[in-house]
Amino acid sequence: MGFFNKLFGSKQEDENQMATLNIGIIIGSTREGRVSPQVAQWVKEIADKRGDANYTIIDIADYKLPLLGEAGTDASGATAWSEAIAKQDGFVFIVQEYNHSITGALKNALDYLREEWNNKAAGIVSYGSVGGARAAEHLRGILGELLVADVRVHPALSLFTDFENGTDFKPQAVQEDSVNQMLDQVIPWSKALYTIR
Ligand SMILES: Cc1cc2nc3c(=O)[nH]c(=O)nc-3n(C[C@H](O)[C@H](O)[C@H](O)COP(=O)(O)O)c2cc1C
Repeated sequence: MGFFNKLFGSKQEDENQMATLNIGIIIGSTREGRVSPQVAQWVKEIADKRGDANYTIIDIADYKLPLLGEAGTDASGATAWSEAIAKQDGFVFIVQEYNHSITGALKNALDYLREEWNNKAAGIVSYGSVGGARAAEHLRGILGELLVADVRVHPALSLFTDFENGTDFKPQAVQEDSVNQMLDQVIPWSKALYTIR
């Protein structure tokens, strides 16, 4: 749909477009033994019950991205990474705290792209000893530079009370409400930002 139609198309056309909103749930850690796939799957199950978008888990590990620009490496996964992100209207980042910030893998994967991120919305689900809060706040600064509008509600999972032994994900019941409240903000912002792309 062209820019003119986005602005002046009928309400019905807009609603048809919005019915197919795509939201990518991005797994931010890639290490062997990571807990992030359990968290991503849980978010997807909650999200799918809403029936308000196509939710897809996007695992950075699948793209085998070398460090950006590193000589002598195989960056052939970059095209598929670009396509996967370009397709989305919004994101939920599954963020784990490494040394009070996000993982190197997530920062690298963010750095690979620019327009593919621009003018989209995002929510953050983080975990760590203090809910991954410090990593989540670092991510907000990076997302600002990439023109990603990150919403206020932020499910923050504790390694002590939402995981058993720090590894088996057993979220407290209240966390599901928090994910829904976060998505209640991500969905309308994703729709709104669609109109300016
Ligand atoms: C390199 C490294 C640094 C970490 N630093 C922190 C930290 O600063 N704060 C924290 O709360 N947890 C920290 N942790 C614990 C992680 O949050 C925890 O291991 C978590 O499961 C990592 O996510 P993942 O399993 O998806 O990789 C660190 C873990 C690693 C591997």
